[in-house]
Amino acid sequence: MRVTIGIIKGDGIGPEIVREAVRVLDTVAKLFHHEFIYKDIDLGGVSIDLHGEPLTQENITKAKTCDAILMGSIGGDARTSSWYQLPAHLRPEAGLLTIRQTLDLFCNLRPAILYDTLRHSTPLKDHIVEGGFDVLIVRELVGGLYFGEHIEEMVGEEAVARDMMSYSESEVRRIAIKAFEAARLRNKKVTSVDKANVIATSRLWRRVMDEVHLDYQDVTLEHMFVDNAAMQLVMNPKQFDVIVTENMFGDILSDEASVIAGSIGMLPSASLNASGFGLYEPSGGSAPDIAGQNIANPIATILSAAMMLEYSFGLKEEAKRVNEAIQAVLRDGYRTRDIYEEGNQLVGTDQMGELIAKKLHVSYET
Ligand code: IPM
Ligand code: MN
Repeated sequence: MRVTIGIIKGDGIGPEIVREAVRVLDTVAKLFHHEFIYKDIDLGGVSIDLHGEPLTQENITKAKTCDAILMGSIGGDARTSSWYQLPAHLRPEAGLLTIRQTLDLFCNLRPAILYDTLRHSTPLKDHIVEGGFDVLIVRELVGGLYFGEHIEEMVGEEAVARDMMSYSESEVRRIAIKAFEAARLRNKKVTSVDKANVIATSRLWRRVMDEVHLDYQDVTLEHMFVDNAAMQLVMNPKQFDVIVTENMFGDILSDEASVIAGSIGMLPSASLNASGFGLYEPSGGSAPDIAGQNIANPIATILSAAMMLEYSFGLKEEAKRVNEAIQAVLRDGYRTRDIYEEGNQLVGTDQMGELIAKKLHVSYET
């Protein structure tokens, strides 16, 4: 297979973690006789420095010519970086929101899985995580508070700010369908998370979820308020199969899900549009505090690349092999700092990538 992959290295740890994912992709290409052509796309702070804005029209056009996009992370330290002196629409995050919106990447899949090998990295007690857990967060990605009007103004002497949160029936319906379809391939349970006891968008959300559910009677649907969901995730994560929720709740709950699954450095994500085009990125941020030190965990990015192989290119076997190679390296005891415990072998970002690539070779040859 010959495909073009857009590469957004981004800021902070972005370039380091993407380098390792590309190393693994190159290994897959070699072993399985594919041709992956890479096209660099500037997005985030790096684009502000180069072009004066977080995402240029030229780079949007470039992104559209790719078959899929792999991204590292964007953004800097808001206290010290000059990017944050700029108006909000010119900051690094605005570039990411623009690409999500322009490509209509409404469906964000964030699988949080506690692997047996990482049982000790979860902050949860043993009896809670016994046997591991496997939760898929389906986050609506191009609506809600993120994309409503944001206003900061003076009312008389006082500063006032407001953000508009809006959802339409069709926006809720299309993400509901994705969640039910995903659940059908898993344990057939959807937990829809909202705040319908207080906000109007959640009441609409709940009604549409119930309506779509009529077409998926083989799947169980439950509704849960977001505050309760945040609590249930740490008390009993095993109760969840698919969690579907709006943009902002999904942002928050997926960070929570990532730490209980061991580390934010382990959580991949896929952002898809209606035609199946996808942008793949780790769920974590650019971690400027550890950038350039070769200590970041590249696994979330490598897992994201595996999701790309499967979802965008239909390369299931290749994706499976990458996942297995990661598990095998973890089983061998190698850990980056975020998931390290005594008795493990501490490795850097590049070594982790090399070990996974090497495992792929070995598993391919045997
Ligand atoms: C994420 C990130 C982004 C978000 C930021 C960088 C805009 O936190 O992908 O979860 O809030 O969606
Ligand atoms: Mn986030």
